[in-house]
Amino acid sequence: MENHLVIAIDGPAASGKSSVARALARRLEILYVNTGAMYRAVTWHVVASGISSKDSEAVLKLLGETRIVCGVYEGQSNILINGADPNPYLLSEEVNANVSNIATIPEVRRQLVDLQRVYAVDFDNVMEGRDIGSAVFPETPYKFYIDASPEVRLMRRQRQGLQDSISARDRQDSSRRTSPLIIAEDAHVIDSSHLTIDGVVGEIIGRLKLKGLKILDCTSRIAA
Ligand code: DC
Repeated sequence: MENHLVIAIDGPAASGKSSVARALARRLEILYVNTGAMYRAVTWHVVASGISSKDSEAVLKLLGETRIVCGVYEGQSNILINGADPNPYLLSEEVNANVSNIATIPEVRRQLVDLQRVYAVDFDNVMEGRDIGSAVFPETPYKFYIDASPEVRLMRRQRQGLQDSISARDRQDSSRRTSPLIIAEDAHVIDSSHLTIDGVVGEIIGRLKLKGLKILDCTSRIAA
């Protein structure tokens, strides 16, 4: 099956990758897929069901009885769990504290990766996560790893007013056995510590053009 265009954006927590991926997708007028939101949605469901995120057996039993529907809403990926919209809860302290446990369970990853791959069957997309370039779409030639210094990442979270122990989450995300956060060999690494979102998007677009991707500038689109 031929996939559509996938631009993979990976990186640690609060590296700015979500803002960059969303802005890039908007600029290219293609779908933005937030895979972290999928792990977060499952985590919300597990916690709301009173199950420990460390009890993988109970988590998998619950998932077996759960209907997860991934779709598209206003240009970005969207997930419903048993018909409920988990969006308002995805950045809660409880979800932050438990999501890395859920993301270490190989069967959870397998199921969510299957759903992530379906997006590329129908849509050109910018897909953001931890393992998109290394495991979900290793064949895409368009891989980016967005990083920032620990101080800058912590400051960004604090500015968002979010309680999130990002260093603990990074440690767990980078050390798990299945698809840990790594820099794919052929990924282009960008340190966003001192760059604006537009600056990072500009660097990515420059790189995509170098790799031969045809991207219309807004000005030439207006002129056309
Ligand atoms: O990008 P985020 O902070 O919203 O992701 C939340 C968690 O989900 C992150 O700590 C690890 C996990 N995750 C993952 O394991 N693989 C992905 N592709 C995306 C997220």
